[in-house]
Amino acid sequence: MPTALITGASRGIGRELACILAAEGWQVLAGVRDPASAPAGTRAERVDMADPGSIDALAGRLRAETQNLDALVNNAGVYQAPARLVWDVNVLGPLRLTLALEPLLVAGARVVMVSSGLGRLSAQPRELAKRLRDPGLSLQDIEALARQAPGGYGASKAAVTAMARVFAARWQDRGILVNSISPGWVRTDMGGASAPRSVRQGAASLLWGVRLPADGPSGGMFEDGRPID
Ligand SMILES: NC(=O)c1ccc[n+]([C@@H]2O[C@H](COP(=O)([O-])OP(=O)(O)OC[C@H]3O[C@@H](n4cnc5c(N)ncnc54)[C@H](OP(=O)(O)O)[C@@H]3O)[C@@H](O)[C@H]2O)c1
Repeated sequence: MPTALITGASRGIGRELACILAAEGWQVLAGVRDPASAPAGTRAERVDMADPGSIDALAGRLRAETQNLDALVNNAGVYQAPARLVWDVNVLGPLRLTLALEPLLVAGARVVMVSSGLGRLSAQPRELAKRLRDPGLSLQDIEALARQAPGGYGASKAAVTAMARVFAARWQDRGILVNSISPGWVRTDMGGASAPRSVRQGAASLLWGVRLPADGPSGGMFEDGRPID
């Protein structure tokens, strides 16, 4: 049975994705702040993505039981929050969690970094876009940028896209495919009631990245399987 860890599985798009994969027979580790909020059919894993200690504790538990991962979906996110929290949850948390779980990702694993159309590089201020497009960008550079919190939600998601590109290069030899994927504008607590897309449609955009064939793309940004920039 393949195993996926999905953060932000308590509600919204992450919960929908967790339920879909669980119904398909995956073992789903639901990364949640409150274990009671994990959907039925999943295994709750407590994690606060703003808290490095909590992230390390989750990774430590999984490493202690050698819990291999076939898929990792960094979905937890915040939108209207102080910049410090936005960058902690949206960028530093996924960076720390992904690095800590690196040894548990199986060869050929799929990793989805959930981004947003608001995080398209083409929509960012020129200086930020230039830094994030730099071919020499490292994970350390992204961490340093995130500590500065240069901008709000869109900028943080642009950094997530750059992070996917850097991880893709790092994992090329292991066949791990990692992409930055936008769910589109979705009716959730974050997206609001007037968003045009259902949680099912948003989850489907992310599922594409989980189900990529072995010769699928890595390091790009996509929505509904189509590249966006
Ligand atoms: N909805 C949209 O239109 C839209 C558009 C583009 C991108 N996205 C992205 O899609 C992802 C899911 O969004 P959504 O619409 O499903 O959002 P949502 O309904 O607001 O749900 C957010 C999820 O993130 C979790 N979360 C927030 N802060 C956390 C923290 N510190 N530690 C751990 N978990 C935390 C929440 O857990 P709790 O229940 O514990 O708060 C919840 O499960 C996000 O990355 C978002 O940026 C959404």
